[in-house]
Amino acid sequence: MTYKSMPKVELHTHLEGCAPPAFIRGLAQEKSIDISGIFNADGTYAYRDFNHFLEVYEAACTTLQGPEDFYRLTKAVLEESASHGIVYQETFVSPDFCGGGDVTAWREYLAAMQTAADEADRDLGITLKGVVTVIRHFGPEASKPTATCAVETFGDFITGFGMAGGEMVGRPGDYAYAFDMAREAGMPLTCHAGEWGGPSMVAETLRDLKVDLIGHGIGAIEDSNLVRQIVESGVTLEVCPGSNVFLKANVFGKGLERWGDHPIQKLRDAGVKVTVSTDDPPFFGTTMTDEFNMLAQTFDWTEDDFRTLNQTALDAAFCDADTRATVAKRLETE
Ligand code: ADE
Ligand code: ZN
Repeated sequence: MTYKSMPKVELHTHLEGCAPPAFIRGLAQEKSIDISGIFNADGTYAYRDFNHFLEVYEAACTTLQGPEDFYRLTKAVLEESASHGIVYQETFVSPDFCGGGDVTAWREYLAAMQTAADEADRDLGITLKGVVTVIRHFGPEASKPTATCAVETFGDFITGFGMAGGEMVGRPGDYAYAFDMAREAGMPLTCHAGEWGGPSMVAETLRDLKVDLIGHGIGAIEDSNLVRQIVESGVTLEVCPGSNVFLKANVFGKGLERWGDHPIQKLRDAGVKVTVSTDDPPFFGTTMTDEFNMLAQTFDWTEDDFRTLNQTALDAAFCDADTRATVAKRLETE
């Protein structure tokens, strides 16, 4: 069976990371930008490892040069998501790639994304919300204007604040100023941790940034006390199994190579609230349909398991109550 048409809730995507390679090539051609080096001969994105992935990602972002490009990107991404049954998606968006941290420019980019999101909601039945995201390897100073952009635009479309990028750059506490700003403005919080940095990075992220969700978080499996703490605190993990296997994320000091070794099942069995997302689908050759099919194949998950997964994701989503109710209705229509 394929799960393509089953309604789905996806919490962890990066907007630029959802850009199909052909879309980025098209923009590059229009603007005469030479980024041929970031593609394989078959047209897919080419990179060696996680750090190189971040470089290729940023090279692709150089083709996204104004609000109109982000309008087109958002439209293309939502068409693809809707074709895999996604009815609600949260996506990381970064002022660093949209006007360089300037609030006025950021508002213009956001307006363009929101127009595309409104059109997709009306035409395709998919709702998109944005989570403003610090790029960790740009350093703690850069996180401050990002937090200002987040706080100034928190509202209907922007629903939360988070951090992505190179997890091994600095410690979570180095970014506490930005997270404190967002928390004081009432924003819900998430942060990538435990994709590369093991249980200590997850523990410090919870302690120093006081987040509601953790992006990935799979390194927590190495520490049973930490797993218990996560269960007791009700923190939800945004797990991205296909991404972790493709990038060979770090679990027990080794690169994850096989779906069967992914800790999602053990985390779930321990009582952790897990959700499933694609992260940057064209970069990792995955889709939400593939993720569901692989979970069914590897861990014998059934429709009931996927219904629970959707509900866990909807409960943890950063949206307002009206949106949550609308999405709940969409999940019922199976
Ligand atoms: N930015 C885009 N994808 C990412 C990932 N998987 N981890 C950290 N930062 C990212
Ligand atoms: Zn991510």
